[in-house]
This record gives sequence, structure tokens and C-alpha cells, in this order.
Amino acid sequence: MTLRVAVIGSGPAGIYTAEALVKQSAEPVRVDVLERLPTPYGLVRYGVAPDHTSIKSIAGYLKRVLELPEVRFLGGVTLGEHVSVDDLLGRYDAVVYCTGAMVDRRLGIPGEDLPGSVAATDFVNWYCGHPDVDPGRFTLDSPEVAVIGVGNVAVDVVRVLARTADELSRTDVPHDVLQRLSESQVKVIHMVGRRGPEHAKFTLKELRELGELDNADVVVRPDEAQVSGDGFSRQVRGNVEVIRSWSARSPAGRARRLDVRFWLRPVEILGTERVEGLRLERTRLSPEGRVVGTGAFETLPVGMVLRSVGYQSVPLPGVPFSEETMTVPNEAGRVREREYVAGWLKRGPTGVIGTNKSDAAETVRTLLADLAGRERLPGTATIDALLAERGVRPVTYDEWLAIEAAEAELAKSLGRGDRVKLVGLEAMLRACRP
Ligand SMILES: Cc1cc2nc3c(=O)[nH]c(=O)nc-3n(C[C@H](O)[C@H](O)[C@H](O)COP(=O)(O)OP(=O)(O)OC[C@H]3O[C@@H](n4cnc5c(N)ncnc54)[C@H](O)[C@@H]3O)c2cc1C
Ligand SMILES: NC(=O)c1ccc[n+]([C@@H]2O[C@H](COP(=O)([O-])OP(=O)(O)OC[C@H]3O[C@@H](n4cnc5c(N)ncnc54)[C@H](OP(=O)(O)O)[C@@H]3O)[C@@H](O)[C@H]2O)c1
Repeated sequence: MTLRVAVIGSGPAGIYTAEALVKQSAEPVRVDVLERLPTPYGLVRYGVAPDHTSIKSIAGYLKRVLELPEVRFLGGVTLGEHVSVDDLLGRYDAVVYCTGAMVDRRLGIPGEDLPGSVAATDFVNWYCGHPDVDPGRFTLDSPEVAVIGVGNVAVDVVRVLARTADELSRTDVPHDVLQRLSESQVKVIHMVGRRGPEHAKFTLKELRELGELDNADVVVRPDEAQVSGDGFSRQVRGNVEVIRSWSARSPAGRARRLDVRFWLRPVEILGTERVEGLRLERTRLSPEGRVVGTGAFETLPVGMVLRSVGYQSVPLPGVPFSEETMTVPNEAGRVREREYVAGWLKRGPTGVIGTNKSDAAETVRTLLADLAGRERLPGTATIDALLAERGVRPVTYDEWLAIEAAEAELAKSLGRGDRVKLVGLEAMLRACRP
């Protein structure tokens, strides 16, 4: 008998799950990877920064998994819209949810919903050409912007804001987005952390890159670069050293300035019709290690606030979800009988692409142990028949390759790099179903 598994989501977690199923299963296995977009690879395509081409090349590895004979890609199929959990459990021996973390965490401060206050999720989706966001959505018409948060996503956002359009023209940034970036009025970018350099979440390699930008001077105030305590990890020591070295630099007159700030928390986004400023309160740590305000305030004269304080998962219809952890409760990947979870939906929105490989392998070990010796479904009811009945025509792997080819063709015609993203479902479907 063949083991049939549906994997929901084709980001790193979904594809590593498919790979682990093929590698670990002692019996024949068929894996259908159902993805709401016409395109695979999740945040590798719509998250990893466009100028990080070497990281993006991980897609080459993921591609080889999708090309395994046991694995099938079905794009444009959304769990909760086109198919339900019951539909899947009636057609597959097991289902693995790998839908990631699609929305932003909230700050919970006044002014958060003013025009010009933007979630990093939306901004990243915009410059990555995600079909959920219109390429005309953002105009960078403010000379000063603030990025809240000092994690790697904040670093990506800052880099994209600081680079010249010329530098970005060699990347896959959609052409309309590149046009907007070339018209950017941004001169000063404030990156704001609510704790000290020793608590920042960014990694050393990513941090160093900010200090090497051709188009921006990095400024750190010496008093904010000070850290107390010792026993830090190598990573933290490295970050602290870099920050300290920046505090000794003098601006070299580059077109943009990056002000990296610490010990400041946002308390209000100011403005009536749109963002006109960001009010911050100086912070310290309480004896219990909590961030507390000191009662000293300052205001940044920014016209845009980018909130980069983490992603979070959304509940899937019919699937258990903890509002406390914003993940699907599981034991080593097991959710309920024949239902499993992997990736950011399983453990929360932290970790690099590779973290999802061992995470998926754990889920698959649990799944195979649970299903060992159990009777398999006959395989007579298929997802193909159900989708056809509902008028849903999934995007096949070959159709995805046609989208990729059209993106390469577009880059060539524009004289830009290897690929320029097509934006919008219509454009993608036109490219693969001419
Ligand atoms: C902005 C950003 C940049 C990053 N850059 C890097 C980097 O440079 N290097 C690095 O190592 N890590 C990076 N990471 C981390 C890395 O991207 C994650 O660890 C990884 O993508 C998580 O994998 P996942 O499969 O759980 O989620 P995702 O990659 O988000 O994949 C989830 C997939 O599920 C699909 N989906 C969602 N809902 C449904 C549904 N209802 N039905 C069907 N399909 C659905 C989505 O469309 C998506 O394709 C970055 C993360 C972010 C947010
Ligand atoms: N190049 C890469 O490898 C790369 C690139 C992008 C993303 N990623 C990975 O993707 C994951 C997600 O990254 P991320 O940057 O979204 O999340 P993150 O690493 O968790 O960073 C979130 C940042 O937001 C701050 N924050 C949270 N709530 C806040 C609030 N209410 N007010 C002010 N600041 C607040 C956090 O500060 P506190 O620490 O004080 O909470 C932290 O500085 C990470 O594991 C990251 O490494 C990797």
C-alpha cells in the first residue's frame, strides 16, 4: 500500500516535510504539497530580502524536492477556502500543516493604525512582490522614517530603504516597486530597539552589512552603545563590538543616514490624518529583567513608522490553535490523530530557513511512528476529483516553471539581473496559461 500525505504550505517547512517523508518512509509514499499561491517556497520567495541572492539560492535545493517523483505541487489551493480539513482527511492518510506566520504582531499603542504606520509584513510583501500587496501601495515621500525592532527583519527593511535603486535594480524587485524606490525621499532612517545592543536579535553577519552600505552612514550614540554585564555569547559579543565601533565613527557625508538607537520604546505614533512623529520613552530593565519606562521622552519627526516587531501565525479553519502562543499545539509535531504541524506554525516565528529542516524531520518521525502498521486509505477518493468538482484548477509544477521563465524573460527585456518578479495572480496565470 502507498502512504498518502497532504502537506499544506510550500515554504521551507512544507518542502522539508515532503523531503523527510520520502527519505524516512520505508513504504511507498505520495506527497501532495498544497499551496495557496501559484508559486512555491513561501518566505524564501516572499520574505528573504531581494539583495540576499545567495540565501535565495536555497530555492535550488527546495526545487529538487518538488521534482522528486513522489512529490506533487498543487498551487492556488487554499486550506479553508478550496478544501477543508475533513476533505483532506477523507483523501489522505495524514495531513501536515505548514502555513507559517503570515501577519504582524501589534504594538498596542495609540496611532498604530494611522496612514504611514506600516507593518513590516506588508512592507516586505511589497518589495518582494507578494500578490497580496499592490505595487503602488507605498510612496516613500518622508525624509525621515522609523523602523521599530532590532531583529533581522528590521535589518532587511533598513537595508532596502538605505540602498540606491541602482543597487536594487540587479535584484528581482518588481519593476513598479523599483520605480517607487528610485523616487524615495528618505534621508534618515531611525532603527529603534527597546533594550540594549546586548539584547538585539539581529545576527552578526546581517548587522555588519549595515555598516558596509555605500549609500548610508551609520550613527550610534556612544552612551547607547554601552553595555553592562559579561558572560555574553560569541554572537552577542560580536554585535556589541560592531555597535561600539560604529559609535566611534564620524559620518562620511553619504546620501542617507542610519541612526541606530537603543533603550527607547514606542509609546505613541503621532498625527491626525497621517503619521507626523513617533513618541518614544527611554527605558531600563527592572530588577526582574522587564523593560520599564523611565519617564523621559523624545519625539522623532518621522512621516513613516515601520513596525518590525515579529510575525505571527493565523488559525486555520478546523485546526486547533493556541491564542496564547499563536501556534498549533502539538507534541513533537502531532496535533491530533492523522494531523501534524511543522515550521513557524508549529514553533512560532523564529529561526532561519535551515531550522525548519530538523523541525520537519521531527514531525515526520512522529507521523511515521504513529501510522506504522495502520491500515491505509484505499486512495479511491482523490483531491483532483474534488477540486475539479469545485471548479478549482491547481497550478502545476510545470506551470510554475513557466512563471519562472516569464520572470527571467522580463528581467532580460528590462536589462535587469536574472529575474524580475511578476506581480499579481492574473499576471502569473497569464504567464503560465497563455
Ligand atoms: C522577512 C523575512 C526574511 C527572512 N530572511 C531569511 C534569511 O535571509 N535567511 C534565513 O535563513 N531565514 C530567513 N527568514 C526566516 C525563514 O524565512 C523562515 O524560517 C521560514 O520561511 C519558515 O518556513 P515556513 O514554511 O514555516 O513558513 P513560510 O515560509 O511562511 O511558508 C508558509 C507557506 O504556506 C502557505 N500558506 C499559508 N496559508 C495557507 C493555506 N491556508 N493554504 C495553503 N497554503 C497556505 C504560504 O503561502 C507559504 O507559501 C526570513 C523571515 C522573514 C519573515
Ligand atoms: N538573514 C537572516 O538570516 C534573516 C532575515 C530575516 C529574518 N530572519 C529570521 O526570522 C525570524 C523573525 O525575525 P524578526 O526580526 O521578525 O523577529 P525577532 O528576531 O523576534 O525580532 C523582533 C524585534 O522586535 C522587538 N519587539 C517586539 N515587540 C516589541 C514592542 N512591543 N516594542 C518594541 N520592540 C518590540 C524585539 O525586541 P525584544 O527582544 O525586546 O522583544 C526584537 O528586537 C528570526 O528568527 C530571524 O533571525 C533571518
